[in-house]
Amino acid sequence: MPQIVLQDIKKSYGSVTVVENLNLSMANNEFTVLVGPSGCGKSTVLRMIAGLEVLTAGEILIDDKPVSHLEPKDRDIAMVFQDYALYPHMNVARNMSFALRLARYPKAKIEERVKKVADILGIVPLLSRKPAQLSGGQRQRVAMGRALVRDASTFLFDEPLSNLDAKLRTQMRAELALMRRRLEKNMIYVTHDQVEAMTLGDRIVVLRSGDIQQQGSAEQLYKTPVNKFVAGFLGSPPMNFFDGMLEESEGRIFVNGDGYRLPLPDTLQKRVQEQQSKEVIVGIRPTAFKIANGSTDGVQLDLPVVLPEYIGSQSVIMSRLGGQQIQIEVSSDTPLGTNETLAFTVDPKSIYLFDPNTEATL
Ligand SMILES: Nc1ncnc2c1ncn2[C@@H]1O[C@H](COP(=O)(O)OP(=O)(O)OP(=O)(O)O)[C@@H](O)[C@H]1O
Ligand SMILES: [Mg+2]
Repeated sequence: MPQIVLQDIKKSYGSVTVVENLNLSMANNEFTVLVGPSGCGKSTVLRMIAGLEVLTAGEILIDDKPVSHLEPKDRDIAMVFQDYALYPHMNVARNMSFALRLARYPKAKIEERVKKVADILGIVPLLSRKPAQLSGGQRQRVAMGRALVRDASTFLFDEPLSNLDAKLRTQMRAELALMRRRLEKNMIYVTHDQVEAMTLGDRIVVLRSGDIQQQGSAEQLYKTPVNKFVAGFLGSPPMNFFDGMLEESEGRIFVNGDGYRLPLPDTLQKRVQEQQSKEVIVGIRPTAFKIANGSTDGVQLDLPVVLPEYIGSQSVIMSRLGGQQIQIEVSSDTPLGTNETLAFTVDPKSIYLFDPNTEATL
């Protein structure tokens, strides 16, 4: 039985519609991640669930009960805000314990909760400081702590790690992943960071202009994106796209472009036969290009090293294919010189095709 259901929800500000007819069901104890570019409506959706924005149309059900008429405090929801929203005149401990004090929890219980959560978040030494005496990342952790001390059935997180440095961010991400297993709560987490989305979410919901593009597990979205937007959004460096033209020759279908000719695997052969237009967008992930090393498996491509970038265990090569700039990821052991040409192979099975008009995956 789904725990939280968004039914045809709509949100307009005057004549501007931010969310139009959004439908989403989240199962009990599920960790749902809403991911999408800035301005796509992620915070708006969270704020509607929390009761901080009035729905223009539609209904939100929690445990089968409509809640859109309920005040935020009656929804059994704790939220971590993107802009922290800490009380400036209270120290960290009092900020964290605010909701518990309001609910008249016993003092010992409050102290125990605050201490435990502050420990997890690494902010024990900051408990007596005021928000103005904290860095952005520290404030963000306090904002998270203030929600986590609560007993709510649902936790909403709006980009709770965006102001942390890379190391702390990875550490907190792991803490969150561990914590959610212990907590067994509904969690809805908003981020524009696809790595965060992929590592944390049981269900990832990709939003674009207030519209759900696709939802599923990280693997489903990565391996079988429904359109070019999802394909380009998940994965780093992102999938490469270039223009191509379908051509049939000797009973096989190829996709041709400026400087390449790729035979399509059987699965794609059948699908493109119904295509009206011969124009397609080709998608190949940066990791699908393999240094040939004399191998003749797959399609052979000679590609220029325009700019090699060393990023640690991997190197990313800026190259060109089909008249467009592409990125190729190789092991950083590979010796790379600028302006040389390298021989690559690509397994035809790793080729994606998209309709240039609808951008849907073919
Ligand atoms: N009060 C408002 N009046 C008019 N437009 C608004 C209002 N609040 C938000 N919007 C618009 O709604 C859209 C969605 O905003 P929202 O804050 O939900 O985006 P977001 O996906 O959370 O983005 P970010 O990743 O930058 O936080 C934006 O285009 C924004 O300008
Ligand atoms: Mg936002």
